[in-house]
Amino acid sequence: MCGIVGYVGSKQAYPLLINGLRRLEYRGYDSAGVAILGTDGLIVSKCKGRVSDLEAHVNGTPMAGTVGIGHTRWATHGEPNDVNAHPHVSTNGDLALIHNGIIENYAPLKEELISRGYKFSSETDTEVLVHLIDDIRRNEGTDLAESVRLALENVVGAYAIVVVDRNTPGTLVAARKSSPLVIGIGEGGDLFLASDATPIVEHTRNVVYMEDGEIAILDREQGLRVRNIKNQEKRPSIQALEIQLEALEKGGFEHFMLKEIYEQPRSIRDSMRGRLNLAQGSIVLGGIKDYEQRIVNAKRILIVGCGTSWHAGMVGEYLFEEFARIPVEVEYASEFRYRNPVINEDDIVIAISQSGETADTLAAIELAKGRGATILGICNVVGSSIARQTHAGSYTHAGPEIGVASTKAFTAQVTLLTLMALMVGQRKGTIDGARYRQLLLELEAIPAKVEKVLKTEAQVKYIGDIYKEARNALYLGRGYSFPVALEGALKLKEISYIHAEGYPAAEMKHGPIALIDEEMPVIVIATHGASYEKVVSNIQEVKARKGKVIAIVTEGDTTVKEIADHSIEIPASPDAFVPLLAVVPLQLLSYHMAVMRGCNVDQPRNLAKSVTVE
Ligand code: AGP
Repeated sequence: MCGIVGYVGSKQAYPLLINGLRRLEYRGYDSAGVAILGTDGLIVSKCKGRVSDLEAHVNGTPMAGTVGIGHTRWATHGEPNDVNAHPHVSTNGDLALIHNGIIENYAPLKEELISRGYKFSSETDTEVLVHLIDDIRRNEGTDLAESVRLALENVVGAYAIVVVDRNTPGTLVAARKSSPLVIGIGEGGDLFLASDATPIVEHTRNVVYMEDGEIAILDREQGLRVRNIKNQEKRPSIQALEIQLEALEKGGFEHFMLKEIYEQPRSIRDSMRGRLNLAQGSIVLGGIKDYEQRIVNAKRILIVGCGTSWHAGMVGEYLFEEFARIPVEVEYASEFRYRNPVINEDDIVIAISQSGETADTLAAIELAKGRGATILGICNVVGSSIARQTHAGSYTHAGPEIGVASTKAFTAQVTLLTLMALMVGQRKGTIDGARYRQLLLELEAIPAKVEKVLKTEAQVKYIGDIYKEARNALYLGRGYSFPVALEGALKLKEISYIHAEGYPAAEMKHGPIALIDEEMPVIVIATHGASYEKVVSNIQEVKARKGKVIAIVTEGDTTVKEIADHSIEIPASPDAFVPLLAVVPLQLLSYHMAVMRGCNVDQPRNLAKSVTVE
């Protein structure tokens, strides 16, 4: 996610853009930039860092002009640095463009433009757009809006873009597909643009939410015009904004954590975007392409991480061993770094980290790298320390995760591990073709299934209210659902401060069953699959001791519903994909129990979002 702002009107644009970008920093903050259309043409200033760093970079340079665009970046392609910061400018300096989204086919478009003599200065996918629009306008002689429309006909991916042209003063052209764009209709002909309404609401409450495929022309003289994908003019529907600024930053949710739980259909989709190609039945992970054969030949995979990332690694163990038949060991990074582990030169080490800054994981990487292993990263923050220390890796593209309790990062990490395991298994021939294609179809369907699971929130909240005073909780699962039990327990304990433990369901008889009493909620993932009957027996063992069972079951299940105290249904899916679905009600349960207990959900006590110290 990036933050986009634009302004056309009678006021000086620069201060409005800077304030707007500050409001959007929660969407990304690794670099920022503005382009102002002044009397002598475009003035562009951009740099690595936050909006405050951009202001220091501008450092009093006159930024006079009443038309402009601004961008605060969450990198997906290309390190956070000055060159990769937006806006990106056409070769002749006529156009400046900002973008939020992912251009999936940027590589072939870039090759074509280079063959036509265009020079690229950045590593971003976005820069392709500004040269493509410039190329069309010079060859077709079309105006700015038509050039943008024609260019976007060649683009595959998600975008919200705004373009300013020194030859078309007093105008901005915007377009969106899958990434949000809101237009504000201000007083005196002022027009505002932003990724969401937070930068707009202080100027006007009259907004237009752009639809996918639409192109908007914001013109100081002619006002706002909107065209649909067929290039037909359409009357913009102006709405009056109701919600307050504070709520807007959280997308209308009470906490960032809940917003991020609800973002998971999008973030899972984005983690597959440009990587899972159903039509071709292929998985392409560009970031590790050069190491694919080494993974295929690996005799062992080590996965290191902490907390939720370690739980994602535990799911990864089941995935790689099932689909690629490669032995996997999952290690707490903090243990791995100090126990003088045996590391072989042909080992593959996968380091998982949302922040990319966790000290123990960084140290584990250094140790393994020093002993000759190949290090791959799965990170959410582009250009983070861990991302830079690995030999290669894949970014999760989940967007900034603000809530300390990790939610969308976990499902994005598991999605990446699933793609990797399936890709290696297909290359090794350890998955037959028909099953491979079926699994790709099932994986593609996961975001829609997560949407369905989110609809259980009211039921989950009701259950949370019953158990919000619990002092302990036990989470049980088998196979792929064992790491989910661990993750559910971590979520509950870290935000509600209720002691919770996750266990393999079969382990209950080896001790934890002594804890069962009429007070303790036992959360069991009991979906249809390889170990379903065994889990049903475990539930019966709990009930025989008067325990309270909250079961996560497959839609249509009747057996467990007969014996559990509460059953939350999730759509059927292969065992391997159950973690992506079953974790969602557990996230919601911990969230609501914590809220009802008056806990600070987004910043729980004693915790930090990134543990950069030992
Ligand atoms: C999980 O909800 C916690 N925030 C914490 O366990 C976290 O997963 C752990 O600190 C690892 O962080 P990382 O993914 O940024 O490396």
